[in-house]
Amino acid sequence: MRSTAKAAAHPNIAFIKYWGNRDNDLRIPANGSLSMNLEGLETQTTVSFDSALEQDQLVLNGEPAGEGALERVSSLLDRIRNLAEINTRARVMSENNFPTGTGIASSASAFAALTLASVTALGLCLTEKELSQLARTGSGSASRSIPGGFVEWQAGTDHDSSYAETIAPPEHWDLVDFIVLVSREHKKTGSYQGHRLADTSPLQKIRVADAKRRLDICRKALLEKDFPTFAEIVELDSNMMHSVMMTSTPPLYYWQPGTLEIMAAVQSWRMEGLPVCFTIDAGPNLHLICLKDASEAVKRKLGALINVKSILTCTPGGPAYLLEPEITGV
Ligand code: PMV
Repeated sequence: MRSTAKAAAHPNIAFIKYWGNRDNDLRIPANGSLSMNLEGLETQTTVSFDSALEQDQLVLNGEPAGEGALERVSSLLDRIRNLAEINTRARVMSENNFPTGTGIASSASAFAALTLASVTALGLCLTEKELSQLARTGSGSASRSIPGGFVEWQAGTDHDSSYAETIAPPEHWDLVDFIVLVSREHKKTGSYQGHRLADTSPLQKIRVADAKRRLDICRKALLEKDFPTFAEIVELDSNMMHSVMMTSTPPLYYWQPGTLEIMAAVQSWRMEGLPVCFTIDAGPNLHLICLKDASEAVKRKLGALINVKSILTCTPGGPAYLLEPEITGV
């Protein structure tokens, strides 16, 4: 038997962040989160189930992947093989159209594309909700890269209740995300270990207890396109996640001098009336979110800052999608 499918998915940027799990194996998060898919960046993944293979194989951007990455991919494939009631191994080839080693998280787009391609190759007919649940088990934020546009991930309490859904389509709000690279260094502690450290911070309980309030404010501001309220809550949520990171044992310090320079600049630009805010994931680089009308002004101002190494520009993106179903001899 040989069956192949190719799928693509965008990464996403969380406005209300996911940090810490109530179940690490199933990746049931401690709190709900809200994000936007990033048009302009994507992962394309080809999965071929092939009876001739003795083991799963993984090629990332043309290079054979390390043990850790292959294990994570195989465990998602096992879940999908169980659903299809087969045991056939697969060859997975995954490419990002964005530069690797820049600290831009690719696990969300990678596991979303892997899920859609694998399920399609095996001829399984799953709903968007089921795809999101499966992608979540590979990488939590991947659950949010299955649906399109602006997406909310219901934390839930078990596998069935934890999945993401669109709350508004990409065309709902003309936002621009400038990903501002201040460092090309590879981050020392990735989110896999980071989630496991969250509960060692005395601040995590407080962050989680207040998460529904922040989510409600953010969702409403987004649906009503109220940028000032949106900006305040997005920055607060990012700062609260980094407070947890910095007070974990051991502490995680992701910010660098360049990060702080740009955080301060964004605050003063907003005080001058420019609709822009920042949010920062598990690394030193920033995402500056602004209204499209203000994007030229933001870009000009960024050009004058010495710590800016490079900038990627994204707009609200669609759902994970299929490129090539090609099923033979199942
Ligand atoms: O899905 P993971 O395990 O890569 O975790 C993502 C964590 C953050 O990017 C820091 C926050 C988020 O909600 O995307």
